[in-house]
Amino acid sequence: MLTRNEGFENLTAGYLFPEVAKRRREYQQVHPDAKIISLGIGNTTEPITPHIAKAMSDYIQKLTTKEGYSGYGDEQGLSALRKKIAEVLYKDMATEDEVFISDGAKCDIARIQTLFGRNSKIAVQDPAYPVYVDGSVIVGAAGKASPDGGYEGVTYLPCTAENDFFPDLSVIKPDTLIYFCSPNNPTGVASTREQLAKLVDYALKNGCIIIYDSAYYSFIRNASLPRTIYEIPGARKCAIEINSFSKLAGFTGIRLGWSVVPSELTYSDGVSVKQDWNRVMTTLFNGASNIAQQGGLAALDDEGIKETTALVNYYLDNAKLMQKTLTSSNFSGAGVKVYYTGDSPYLWVYFPGWKSWDIFDKILNECNVVTTPGSGFGPSGEGYVRFSCFGHRSDVEEACRRLQGLKL
Ligand code: MLT
Repeated sequence: MLTRNEGFENLTAGYLFPEVAKRRREYQQVHPDAKIISLGIGNTTEPITPHIAKAMSDYIQKLTTKEGYSGYGDEQGLSALRKKIAEVLYKDMATEDEVFISDGAKCDIARIQTLFGRNSKIAVQDPAYPVYVDGSVIVGAAGKASPDGGYEGVTYLPCTAENDFFPDLSVIKPDTLIYFCSPNNPTGVASTREQLAKLVDYALKNGCIIIYDSAYYSFIRNASLPRTIYEIPGARKCAIEINSFSKLAGFTGIRLGWSVVPSELTYSDGVSVKQDWNRVMTTLFNGASNIAQQGGLAALDDEGIKETTALVNYYLDNAKLMQKTLTSSNFSGAGVKVYYTGDSPYLWVYFPGWKSWDIFDKILNECNVVTTPGSGFGPSGEGYVRFSCFGHRSDVEEACRRLQGLKL
């Protein structure tokens, strides 16, 4: 008999979003007439915009012809798309050969762990997108669960209201893989240039590599905030960036993302990380959908940028409505604190005296609104709930109306 990968035995909880979905399903079974609105998982709701949709549908038509058909493409992605991402989004900060197209940021985050293996040390912001820790547990790098609720091999970097959601870096051991997300999921906070410069400086001095998740960069509206880690001098020597068309263009179902691995980035023995990433992408991955890649190309031309900016603005307007509701006297009178800066799709909300799952259940029961419990993102998320602004406007308005009636 084969033995089980012990990483699975080390996992202490199920994945967060299926657990949220399970509670929603159970509630719906008992209350079949309830019209539940989701402000939970960050799943886009608005249609694919016309210019981008046309590019994909034209390409599908081409695929139906002998001349236009194509099968497997380069595993690293269409050269035209790699080039376009490098030129449009990174300007002179990354080159085409450093951009790798994928089926999304979550998959890249999981695959990237094969580069560093089970002996790597891990540091994560706390709270953090659960894939960083759960993925590290599965590959064996996080070790066993520790009695305090975390994992032995993971350094947790509390990001709290007290430190403006930017962690104390000095606790990170040398030679650590640091997962860092900005604008952050779930706190919604986008790090400043000065903060990211500190992070890069720390990584360079201590032999660390940063996995920089910038899947929400398109929500940044404050022009002084960096939209990529490569705006920070030195980042090309210590950071991999992972990104996605999911939230940018509504591709959560279509699936398309990319990573950037700079040529200068090396392991301790001087071997190129990009060389191994190329090996991973060509061996464990067979290229993103060619249809999706045509959509990606269209999303980055002038018309596409106009459309995606309007799409993201729509969600940001939802967030403003939610911010208004959650800061109204019903909430502020009960001491509820809303953290939201306008550069992210997530509002991070503290309910004093409540455990995250209890306030999640209360909001589901009383308002029929699904949120995401903060404790599911890490120990420092306890007491918080994350509200996502992805939703049809009418649903968000209705959710806000119901939330006004929440008895706190
Ligand atoms: C979230 O809700 O945190 C994310 O949207 C989920 C994901 O992107 O996998």
